[in-house]
Amino acid sequence: MSHDDTPAVVAPGATIGVLGGGQLGRMTVIAAARLGYRCHIFCQSPDEPAAQIAAQVTVAPFTDTEALDRFAAGIDVATLEFENIPLESVEYLTARTAVRPGAPALAVAQDRIKEKDFINRAGIATAPYRAVANPRELISAVADLGTPSILKTARLGYDGKGQIRIETDTDPEAAWAQCGASDATGGAVLEGFVDFEREISVIAARGRDGAITSYVPVENRHANHILDETIVPAPVSDTVAAAATDIAHTLIAELQMIGVLAVEMFVSPDGTVLVNEVAPRPHNSGHWTIDACAVSQFELLVRAVCNLPLASTERDADATMKNLIGDAADNWPAYLADPAARLHLYGKTETRAGRKMGHVTWLTPRMRS
Ligand SMILES: Nc1ncnc2c1ncn2[C@@H]1O[C@H](COP(=O)(O)OP(=O)(O)O)[C@@H](O)[C@H]1O
Ligand SMILES: [Mg+2]
Repeated sequence: MSHDDTPAVVAPGATIGVLGGGQLGRMTVIAAARLGYRCHIFCQSPDEPAAQIAAQVTVAPFTDTEALDRFAAGIDVATLEFENIPLESVEYLTARTAVRPGAPALAVAQDRIKEKDFINRAGIATAPYRAVANPRELISAVADLGTPSILKTARLGYDGKGQIRIETDTDPEAAWAQCGASDATGGAVLEGFVDFEREISVIAARGRDGAITSYVPVENRHANHILDETIVPAPVSDTVAAAATDIAHTLIAELQMIGVLAVEMFVSPDGTVLVNEVAPRPHNSGHWTIDACAVSQFELLVRAVCNLPLASTERDADATMKNLIGDAADNWPAYLADPAARLHLYGKTETRAGRKMGHVTWLTPRMRS
C-alpha cells in the first residue's frame, strides 16, 4: 500500500518527518520552520546537526520498525536528507505515510551500477563503465576500458571515499582491497577516466503534479575529492547550460520522484556533457541558493514534498560558495568580520579532517542571464 496517491496539500503547521540528521537536514528544518512547519528528525544521535534544532527527534537505527511506526504516526509526510537509508526502511515507512522521494528513486541513486544503467536507458551519456564483482572481473574490465580508470564501490561511497584510480601497473587484488569493495558494497564499478574541462551540477525539483523546475548550472571545484567551491553560474556556453538543464529535467521526470534531485556532470573540452552521479536530495552544490535566491533548494524540497507551488528558482545575484572542511571552520571570526561573507555553521560537535563543518557564500551582482 502506498500513501503517496493523495494530492492533498500538506499545509503549514504540519509536521515533516526527515530521515537523516546531517547538515542537509538541518538546513531543511530551517527552511521548513520559516514556512511554519515542524520537523521530526529520525537519526542516530541527538547531537546530529538537524536533531539539535528540530521540534522532535527519534534516535534509533533506521531498521527499528517500532521506532519507524512511532515516527510515521507523528508526521504528515516524510522526506530524506541522506541517500543510504536502507531501502527496506523506506518501503516499511511507505506503507504508513507518504515518503517523498520514494524507494524507487532511492534504489537508483544508492547503487552506482543501477544509476548508470538507468541514466543510459534514459538516453543520457555517462563515462563508459563495467560492473565488477571481484578482482578477476576487474582485470577484464581494465582490459576493456583501459587506464587510467577509476574503481568505485557500487554502494556507500561519498566524498571520494570508496574509490581508487587504476593505472597500468596497479595490482587488481590490491586495488580491490584498497577501495573497500565487498559484497556489502554491492561489488564495484570500473569507470573510464573522463578528462573533463570542468565539473558542473544542476539541482532540479519535481512536484506532486509533475511540474519541474531547476536552478542555473553551477561549477564545482574539488580538493582532495571533496567539494571545495561552487561557482554560480558555471562559466559554460548557453548550449552546454541548456544541455545540462535538459539532462536534469529528463532524469527527474524519468525517476518520477517528488522532491529535489542533484545531477553531477562532467563537461568535456568539446562541450560534451556526461552525467557522473545523481542525488535524490538537496546537494552541497546548492547551498548558495539560501543566500542568492528567493526560494532555496531546501525550501524547494519542502514545497515539493508538501505539494505547494514550486515557485521561482531565479537568483538575485551571482555567488561563490566555499565549504569549511575540518579546521577551516575555525576561521569563523574572519568570515564574521567580512561584510560580504554569509557564514553557515552546522553545529557539529567534533571537528575532523575532511568533515564538512560549514560553508560561506559571497554574492556578487548578477552578470549573466
Ligand atoms: N570517471 C571519472 N573520471 C574523472 N574523474 C572522476 C571520475 N569519477 C569521479 N571523478 C572525480 O572524483 C569526484 C568524486 O567522484 P563521485 O563519483 O562524484 O563520488 P562521490 O560520491 O564521492 O561524490 C568527482 O567529483 C570527480 O572529481
Ligand atoms: Mg559526487
